[in-house]
Amino acid sequence: MQSEKAVGIVSTGKALPVGRLTNFDLEHLVETSDKWIRERTGIEERRILSPGETNSGLSLTAAKIALERACLKPRDIDLILVATVTPDMIFPSTACLIQSELNAFNAAAFDLAAGCTGFLYGLCVAEQFIKTGAMKNILLVGADTLSPVIDWQDRNTCVLFGDGAGAVVIREVERDRGLLVSKLFSDGSKAGLLYVPAGGSRAPATFRTVEERMHYVKMNGPEIFKFAVTVMVDSTKKILDLCDKKPEDLDFLIPHQANVRIIKAASKRLRLKPEQVLVNIQRYGNMSSASIPVVLDEALEEGKIKTGDLIAMVSFGAGLTWGAALLKW
Ligand code: UT7
Repeated sequence: MQSEKAVGIVSTGKALPVGRLTNFDLEHLVETSDKWIRERTGIEERRILSPGETNSGLSLTAAKIALERACLKPRDIDLILVATVTPDMIFPSTACLIQSELNAFNAAAFDLAAGCTGFLYGLCVAEQFIKTGAMKNILLVGADTLSPVIDWQDRNTCVLFGDGAGAVVIREVERDRGLLVSKLFSDGSKAGLLYVPAGGSRAPATFRTVEERMHYVKMNGPEIFKFAVTVMVDSTKKILDLCDKKPEDLDFLIPHQANVRIIKAASKRLRLKPEQVLVNIQRYGNMSSASIPVVLDEALEEGKIKTGDLIAMVSFGAGLTWGAALLKW
């Protein structure tokens, strides 16, 4: 009997908008302070789309870098998968827009919506196509541009988010490397903790929906905070248990970058040392499904991650969704 294929990430790329929005800039928009934002979230600045920049544009730039680093041509891609909740348009998918720009004429293309857990959901979906032998090379992009759907009058949310895109190429890798295990979860009964009420088919745009600011993100921050710490700890423990590993065996944890206090609380409960936990939230804020691939890309560029390192990725987000994956680099 043929044993299962090992599937892994073979290259990464990222793209960030040029525009920086600092906490001091936000002091002019809402009643907040640099001190509050730094202390309560760990964020110092975030990147925000300028006119002309788009989700698909950032995704395309990140994708081109990842493809070049994997020494692949667009025609080699079997699937383009974009994890996003902020596509350019309701349809067509952002993945199709990139497929056209790349001229990736052999690729299927679709978007996947799993909130900030989108990148991990995408990783698991891609793994299945490669394991069955249906596909060889998959381009996965985690991209979110929340700034157009953030209420810039709501200090509870507008200080938290940033725009960005991270891309990876996923394919078969050497045995005992790549994705070792993953677990994905959801609880739709908590959908109302983080959502955009209008703009879909249930409440299409009307004068009323605009006047009532229903096209913007609504969030119950404290409830998500508590939920996030619990599920980050539980799902990281689950994937480690499944591979007979302990938190101290990890070279790195790449957590979703939503709030440095969530990351610290979860790391403390897992008894991780600060040097095991990768954090870049101070520069980018919460980039939703782009957070994890952008941290990964930076850690690789800085030479932190080495061949053979054991890496856990863990995330939570709108849905609610959550999940974790364990990889041997
Ligand atoms: O990817 C998933 C996306 N979402 C999240 O991960 C969100 C998770 N939640 C959080 O990160 C935190 O709950 C927040 C950062 C959103 C809020 O921090 P908190 O420590 O939970 O504060 P709080 O909501 O309990 O608010 C405490 C106080 C309130 O004032 P009062 O009622 O005590 O007078 C808020 O109005 O802080 C106030 N506040 C602010 N003050 C200054 C809330 N936002 C701000 C702000 N600047 N930006």
